Amino acid sequence: MAEKFYISTPIYYPSDNLHIGHAYCSVAADTMARFKKQQGYDTFFLTGTDEHGQKIERKAEAKGVTPQAYVDEIVKGIKELWTLMDVEYDDFIRTSDDRHVKAVQKIFRKLYEQGDIYKGSYEGWYCTPCESFFTELQLKDGCCPDCGRPVEKTNEEAYFFKLGKYQQWLTDYIESHPDFIQPTSRKNEMLNNFIKPGLQDLCVSRTSIKWGVPVDFDEKHTVYVWLDALTNYITALGFESEDDSLYQKYWPADIHLVGKEIIRFHTIIWPIILHALGLPQPKQVFGHGWLVLDGMKMSKSLGNVVDPVVLAGRYGSDAIRYFLMREMPFGSDGQFSYEALLTRINADLANDLGNLVSRTVAMVEKYFGGDVPAHGEWNEIDQALIKLAEETPAKVVKRMDELQFSLALQDVWHLIGECNRYIDLNTPWVLCKTEEGQERLKTVMYVLCECIRYAAVLIAPTMPKTPALIYQQLGVTDDAIKTVESLTTFGQLPAGTKVQKGEALFPRIDIKKELADIVPTPKEEKPKAEKKPQPKQEKKEEKQDSGVITIDDFDKVQLRVARILTAEKVEGSDKLLHFTVKLTDNEPERSVVSGIAKFYTPEEMVGKQVVLVSNLKPAKLRGIKSEGMILCASDAEDKVLKLVTVEPGMEDGACIR
Ligand code: ME8
Ligand code: MG
Repeated sequence: MAEKFYISTPIYYPSDNLHIGHAYCSVAADTMARFKKQQGYDTFFLTGTDEHGQKIERKAEAKGVTPQAYVDEIVKGIKELWTLMDVEYDDFIRTSDDRHVKAVQKIFRKLYEQGDIYKGSYEGWYCTPCESFFTELQLKDGCCPDCGRPVEKTNEEAYFFKLGKYQQWLTDYIESHPDFIQPTSRKNEMLNNFIKPGLQDLCVSRTSIKWGVPVDFDEKHTVYVWLDALTNYITALGFESEDDSLYQKYWPADIHLVGKEIIRFHTIIWPIILHALGLPQPKQVFGHGWLVLDGMKMSKSLGNVVDPVVLAGRYGSDAIRYFLMREMPFGSDGQFSYEALLTRINADLANDLGNLVSRTVAMVEKYFGGDVPAHGEWNEIDQALIKLAEETPAKVVKRMDELQFSLALQDVWHLIGECNRYIDLNTPWVLCKTEEGQERLKTVMYVLCECIRYAAVLIAPTMPKTPALIYQQLGVTDDAIKTVESLTTFGQLPAGTKVQKGEALFPRIDIKKELADIVPTPKEEKPKAEKKPQPKQEKKEEKQDSGVITIDDFDKVQLRVARILTAEKVEGSDKLLHFTVKLTDNEPERSVVSGIAKFYTPEEMVGKQVVLVSNLKPAKLRGIKSEGMILCASDAEDKVLKLVTVEPGMEDGACIR
């Protein structure tokens, strides 16, 4: 029986249209699933949508529709996007599915009955203006730590999950399973920043949110969205349903693929839920990086979201998939740029692969009337290329098993590059001129056609459409030679196969023209243009008082709300703190150094929102990169210093104007 392989993406929030960053995660999971299927695994690939919660509730209300109707519409679009991108999932779980809701209720009840979930009250201090609860410890001078206003003692009934009870178990588990959290840097981050400082019991029900899974034994509560969402990985398999055969077959998952900002939930809450239920752990949680657009926030409000539908429409889904998997080392953040995309399409796809196929097919037609010739004895040049072809599949397997998509493709393109070099070395246009040369040319053509077949098989997981086009031109019809098994020994392409010239696989793009056509003009330039009519007047004002700046001058400064993720003292300095700060989810975290160590401890800075000058030219302070400046107020003698901050309730990354 074939070995099983179960991979999942996160379940996506149904937020209007997904952008290319979301497609990145799904394409990676799909590529991996296709790869494993090709290797003979019995694969299961799960994706879906995470539909509950207040945000959806409010959006639906604003539109005057029910939450269910609201999400139904969006989910339809998401499924269409996956079809367009050839993301071929085995199941699509929606947290509003009845099958999911029922199973979540059973899981919640079970955890409650065995004492891992208990009813308590959110006892603490409530800041009414902020609508937030705080524990005694979190208060600052007895007041709200966010806004500084007085707080009231309150009590709200809620259910809690005993995370704290499992802290030691989780620490031991993670430490004894080095592959569980990947990449490894993430593992240390989880242990040191989140688990070892102590796990608090988690509030897992809400009474104020109606759009959620009702706690079936206490209906005024709905289940906390993350508890609801995380269980999708087993509810989709029929866990706690009448038919749990898929669960029996596929659990534990081999890989949960997730973005790095949600590794925390997948490696703390999720393992503890599973452990409390007595279930095995997923073998691996792999956190991938983010796609950012030309260094800027990819967000709808900025209008710089890259729409995968537009890209796939212009260049084809295979080209987009290739770019996503090839350009960024998996695990790190990567810049999306149109220039990089178009350059890859032209260089790797149109030139390297496309030309290899078209010129090889053209030569077989020209020199041998379209029949792939039988080869003669291999010479040294042939043997080197054949060896490379035969070794490439194993290299690819190794890379793919490490989720190093980019390196796997690099290996295939190395083979493709060597084929092109092989043509130049053998100079078919010279060989064709003599009888002896023509004999040799037979072998050259055969080797090329067979190598192209290797490449076609190997690119299939990443580029599901292209192999068929290559097979058509090569004349390969027999499915048995489209498999990875057929790559074990070189020479399985039958002589006499009839090639057929076709259209270019990837037409060359005029990059300059295309860029002018597709790249949106940056938004921030527009207001400037509108204000231009009175430049003279502004100049006059400048002269009158050199301290006065125009609104245009002020506009140059980008101020953003940033969240402090980590903070530490800079060694050898009593003034500097080194932070990692987060803007939006879609931007890379930044490293910022700030001279506030005398006024704030690293511990109290973590979690705070600050105001960041976000477009300051990066600088190095004591060898540490600083990408922005944190605003503070200070007295004339620098004896008192206070952070500038915004009122609570603003999302990270927000622009300050
Ligand atoms: O987090 N680059 O959903 P989500 C790369 N519902 N990946 C990106 C990205 C970008 N620019 N933008 C988003 C959720 N993603 C929860 C998950 S799972 C039990 C619940 C990735 O729609 C992101 O990192 O906000 C995440 O892995 C996925 O898209 C879904 O994000
Ligand atoms: Mg998110």
